[in-house]
Amino acid sequence: MYSEKVVDHFTNPRNVGEIENASGVGTVGNAKCGDIMRIYLDIDDNGIINDVKFKTFGCGAAVATSSMATELVKGKNIQEALQVTNKAVMEALDGLPPVKVHCSLLAEEAIHAALWDYAQKKGIVIEGLEKPATDIAEIVEEEDY
Ligand code: FES
Repeated sequence: MYSEKVVDHFTNPRNVGEIENASGVGTVGNAKCGDIMRIYLDIDDNGIINDVKFKTFGCGAAVATSSMATELVKGKNIQEALQVTNKAVMEALDGLPPVKVHCSLLAEEAIHAALWDYAQKKGIVIEGLEKPATDIAEIVEEEDY
């Protein structure tokens, strides 16, 4: 049911933890299943994501997608990080079962929330970034469950 990559990232998740004094922190939940994800970004003066950590209190697919999402944004600039959509994360994991697709949205939204927090702290506007949802249940259609 799960790809080898999903199983690998679930059993051996990358970049788990916290960053003290992070440049941006984003927390997103899904009220329907109760899962929560928090992403910490360390962004340097050139706008490069030097480090990223996550904590996920959630299902296996949420852990695997957070892990892969952190790998995909590490070392990237902000605009490149914005391109890391849930579809890109799922592709990198060789897919997710349809009922688990919504779990991958937590990772995308948590990255956006952390970038939003960074922009707020810096007093800057990140082109293409809209205010993220704090609860993905608001943006996921019923039929996706
Ligand atoms: Fe909640 Fe997967 S079931 S994120």
